[in-house]
Amino acid sequence: MPTKPLTHSAEASLRDSSLRSRLALPVVAMLAVVSCSDSDHPAPGASGDLSRDYFSFANAEQFVTEHLRLDLTVDFDARELRGDATLEMRRVDPDAAEIVLDTRDLTVEQVAFFTDGEMVAANFRLGERHDVMGTPLTIEVPAALRSAADVVLTVTYRTAPGATALQWLPPELTAGGSHPFLFSQSQAIHARSWIPLQDTPAVRITYDATIRTPAELLAVMSADNDPEATRDGDYEFRMPQPIPSYLLAIAVGNIYFAPIGEQTGVYSEPEMLEAAAFEFADTQQMLETAEAMFGPYQWGRYDLLILPPSFPYGGMENPRLSFLTPSLLAGDRSLVAVVAHELAHSWSGNLVTNATWRDGWLNEGWTSYLEMRLMEVIYSKERVAEENVLGYRELLLDFENVEPAMQALAPVLETGDPDYFQGSIHYHKGNLFLQYLENAVGREAFDEFIGAYFSDFAFGTITSEAFLDYLDEKLLSVHDTVSRANAEQWLYAPGLPGDALIPTSRTLEQAADMARAWSAGEIAIDDVPVADWSPQGVVHFINSLDPDLAPGRLMELDAALGLSGTRNAEIGRTWFIQVARRQLYPAYGQLEQHLQRYGRTRLVRPVYKAMADNGDDLQLAQQFFAKARYAYHPLTVASIEAVFRRAAETRITAAGTVRLYVAAFNQQNIDLMLNRVSDDIRWMSVDTDKLVTEARGKRELGAVMASYFENLPSARAEIREMHAVGGYVSVVEEAKWTAGDEEKSQCALAVYEIEAGLITNVWYHGAEACTDAGS
Ligand code: BES
Ligand code: ZN
Repeated sequence: MPTKPLTHSAEASLRDSSLRSRLALPVVAMLAVVSCSDSDHPAPGASGDLSRDYFSFANAEQFVTEHLRLDLTVDFDARELRGDATLEMRRVDPDAAEIVLDTRDLTVEQVAFFTDGEMVAANFRLGERHDVMGTPLTIEVPAALRSAADVVLTVTYRTAPGATALQWLPPELTAGGSHPFLFSQSQAIHARSWIPLQDTPAVRITYDATIRTPAELLAVMSADNDPEATRDGDYEFRMPQPIPSYLLAIAVGNIYFAPIGEQTGVYSEPEMLEAAAFEFADTQQMLETAEAMFGPYQWGRYDLLILPPSFPYGGMENPRLSFLTPSLLAGDRSLVAVVAHELAHSWSGNLVTNATWRDGWLNEGWTSYLEMRLMEVIYSKERVAEENVLGYRELLLDFENVEPAMQALAPVLETGDPDYFQGSIHYHKGNLFLQYLENAVGREAFDEFIGAYFSDFAFGTITSEAFLDYLDEKLLSVHDTVSRANAEQWLYAPGLPGDALIPTSRTLEQAADMARAWSAGEIAIDDVPVADWSPQGVVHFINSLDPDLAPGRLMELDAALGLSGTRNAEIGRTWFIQVARRQLYPAYGQLEQHLQRYGRTRLVRPVYKAMADNGDDLQLAQQFFAKARYAYHPLTVASIEAVFRRAAETRITAAGTVRLYVAAFNQQNIDLMLNRVSDDIRWMSVDTDKLVTEARGKRELGAVMASYFENLPSARAEIREMHAVGGYVSVVEEAKWTAGDEEKSQCALAVYEIEAGLITNVWYHGAEACTDAGS
């Protein structure tokens, strides 16, 4: 049986600067461990049905939605959408008497069916809430409609302020600072938190919508946006092509439009509009390139929407209107691969859709492959080689962290959260699979296959098994270079098959050589031709530096290349991961700025993780997070909290270097209190003895705190009060410090979240001065 294909030596070889020589041989040899005999990897004999969507409650095998009509009011004060969702459904099962819809945290006021020209209220019930899946809404079909082929029902409802798909941003978290902003992120299963519907990619619907907003704001949707729309707070949309629910999208804010090409343009707040139009000026040309390669673009216009920094992803392929992070605005068009990616989804994903989330590679793997094909035309083969190598590195790291069963492209997935299934395995292993196929049959034959695939399955959904059958019929059985068993190994086995094409890049090898030579002191930094490199080259250079470089040399590098101050978010990400791993404290100020500037999960989460894992800085990472989280998206917050939880589970050693700080501010608003502290921060350590003595006098959780703080260095903070409630311990600390030659003192309230005896989260807030009561 195959075992986990990569061991710690893979990590070690990645850290080694000689990526090429180390990866090209031994890792391939290790990967070959998984290339078992041909018959080893048929479709898994799952306990359930491979084509079933385990992440929806909807009874789509009995009724199928064909059209959705929305009439929603956007209320920024209440942070809610309210109104009607009308579903036009077709009966599939003649005996079905109930309709089950997906919801999450919706307040349902009424359900009514349209029958004989009038609306008739129906019985409904909300079931038990499931953490990942939400709450099923079961609706009784009235007796009069028991044999009707079609039913039309309207759900009158409102969303919760914490709806998982929606982020309601106060003005201060937008570029302009004077208008609020709302945006949605429905993928994977969040549409149900703003619309009651059959939230499964297996069901495709057309939709129209009336959206009512404050008069000065503009609404846009994944639909026929009108660049000329009158800004009056009343907007109509139509999406005439059938789409899966995860592509339903809305944004409302002080949004304006700038054209790029005939069919293309960009929406954003006016403060970013010019920069965005410049950055994405090649979008029209990209679209035309894509059409020439993949077949006709079926969606009419293709526009981009630049969101505020908290947008949790690089991009989201909402049809006709890709949503993008503002972190792509590097000023030099160097990050447009994300646009190529989201545009490519107009074929892989939006036109031909994964039937369930276990088939996600059919969306993301195909899209990564098409992205590379676009990048090859827009940039060069060399640039694609670079992206492939970096993707491959990320894949190897994922193999380290993902259990073998989940390393398959199409694993058995019946539980868990589809937002987090497999790291980037869908993307990079999927891409390598398609590159492998292309290489085996030749580009011409593969291009023909691409065209046929998108036209044969247009506006349809597809499972991994249906894809395999189609591939077999159209390609494998025609060429004898790849067997069905080869393909099955990609789909069902962990790791990579032994004959996978391992990406290499001449330019990245050169960057790695330079990093090695500079680390060894053989060349000066001025001899490194950084100016000639792509951002990928710089990324690879940073990742290839000697792990034992002295801090002074790293600071020298930072000064010479301006790494801490880079405008390129990918370079910043790479650099600050290294800063955290290597504990380069002089750069922590700018590391913290990076964490505050960006909200895209990919840019911030790994930096927190590197801090949490470096042996010393878990608590500092939590403190940086406490300051920055106010500006993050709930999905980003949740994924960073998971990092902290895992780090705390594996290691709370109280090894003597944990630092605390106290932040002063007077915010009355509880939201702000828990999420943001002022810039006025003073570092301090903790008087361990006092803390421990105090803590020992308290209840059980106090003892937990005590054990945590044992061995800490001594300093000047006193515990004034300590309370334990549930999984939380609150501590009032009096901090004393000097500012200039002034002695200061202040009380701060720290709330520690404790799980299984470990601190998993810390929030601070404080008052200006300590009162006698201690707070
Ligand atoms: N559709 C994804 C984003 C997504 C995936 C959201 C799964 C929710 C669940 C989007 O197309 C994507 O892949 N974005 C990448 C872009 C990158 C690979 C170029 C991102 O945000 O990093
Ligand atoms: Zn994608």
